[in-house]
Amino acid sequence: GNKVSIGLLGLGVVGSGVIKLIENHQEKLVHQLGTDVQVKSVLVRNIDKQRDVDVDRTFLTTNPDDVLNDPEIDIVIEVMGGIEEARKHILNAFANKKHVVTANKDLVALHGPELQEAARKNKCDFYYEASVAGGIPILRGITDGLSSDRIRKVMGIVNGTTNYILTKMDKEGLSYDVALKQAQELGFAEADPTSDVEGLDAARKMAILARLAFSMNVDLDDVEVTGISDITLEDMNYADQLGYTMKLIGFANFDDRKLEVNVQPTMLAKNHPLASVNDEYNAVYVYGDAVGETMFYGPGAGSLPTATAITSDVVSVIKNMLLGVTGSQYLDPHFNKQLKTEEQ
Ligand code: NDP
Ligand code: HSE
Repeated sequence: GNKVSIGLLGLGVVGSGVIKLIENHQEKLVHQLGTDVQVKSVLVRNIDKQRDVDVDRTFLTTNPDDVLNDPEIDIVIEVMGGIEEARKHILNAFANKKHVVTANKDLVALHGPELQEAARKNKCDFYYEASVAGGIPILRGITDGLSSDRIRKVMGIVNGTTNYILTKMDKEGLSYDVALKQAQELGFAEADPTSDVEGLDAARKMAILARLAFSMNVDLDDVEVTGISDITLEDMNYADQLGYTMKLIGFANFDDRKLEVNVQPTMLAKNHPLASVNDEYNAVYVYGDAVGETMFYGPGAGSLPTATAITSDVVSVIKNMLLGVTGSQYLDPHFNKQLKTEEQ
C-alpha cells in the first residue's frame, strides 16, 4: 500500500521524540497525507543501550549504509549531531536521492550553502526548521509567512539551555552549575554544553536566521559572541535590584548597507516582553518594513517540541513528494550570489 519510509540518524533526546510523535500522531498524518509514515531503520552508536522509547531492536543499526543505501527509504532525518560525520551522511543521502530533514544547527550554520546546493543538484528537499528555536516555526515564519516583506531586524532568545540557567538563577537562586546540570538532565543542552553557555549555539542560530531573513550570505565569523559562563548569582541579584533581568539576546540587523549580528548577555527592564520568557522557552522578534513588529514564542528545546518541528518538515517533504515537486527549500535561489553589501 501507500507508505513513506523514514531512516533516522540518531535516537537520543530528539530522535526518540520523533519516533513517539510519528507513532502517536499516525492517524493525523495518514489523514493529512493519505499515506502511512513509518520509521524503517535507525542509526545509533550502541544498539544495547537502554532507551526511553519503545523501538523494535531489529530497526537499530550501527551501519550508516542501512539507512543511506536502502532504496526503500525516502526521507532521512539527521538527529545525531556533530559536524563532519553528519555532513558526510547527508551528502550521501542526497547522492542517493533521499530527502533530508535535520535539527543540526552546527552543521547548517557552517555548511548550509553546500548542503543546499547538493540538495538542489539531486532534486531533493532539505529542511531544518528544528535547528532554530526548537518547536517554534520561525524559519517558516520568515521564509514563508513573511516572504513578501523586507525584514530589517531579528532579535530574541534563541538558546533554551542558557535561558533555563538564567531563569533558575534569577527566580530560584540556584547556582550556575546546578542549573546547568538540570538543563542537561532535561535534554536541553548540547552534547558538549560549552556551545550553549559560551553563546555559540545561539550564534549559529542567529547566522541561520540572518541568512534567511536578509537573503544574504552570513557566516558564523560575522557573529560577535559573548556567553553567560562568567555571570554570577551576584550579577543577577544586582540586576534584579536595579529592576532588570539578565537574558542572553541574539540580535541581527541589516539596513541595506551594513550587517550586524551578535549574541550577548543583556540587561532587560523587567517589563520588557523578553524579560518574561522563562525556562527553556525562546522568543524571537522579527521586524519587517510592511508588517511592522511580530513576535514568535514557544519551547526552544526538548524532545517533543523539537520533534514537532522535524515531523512537520517531514510532512512538507511528503506533500512535495505527492505533488511531484522538489526544491521547496528555505533559501532563495540567489542566496549564494548575494554578497555582503559592505563588500559590494
Ligand atoms: P543526543 O546526544 O541525545 O542523541 C544523539 C543520538 O545520535 C544518539 O542516539 C547517538 O547514539 C547517536 N549518534 C551520535 N553520534 C553518532 C555516530 N557517530 N554514529 C551513530 N550514532 C550516533 O542528542 P539530541 O537528540 O539532544 O540532539 C540531536 C541533534 O538535534 C543535535 O544536532 C542537536 O544540536 C539538535 N537539537 C537538539 C535539541 C534538544 O532539545 N536536545 C533541540 C534542537 C536541536 P547512542 O544513542 O547509541 O549513543
Ligand atoms: N541546546 C539547544 C538549546 C537545543 O538549549 O537551545 C535547541 O537548539
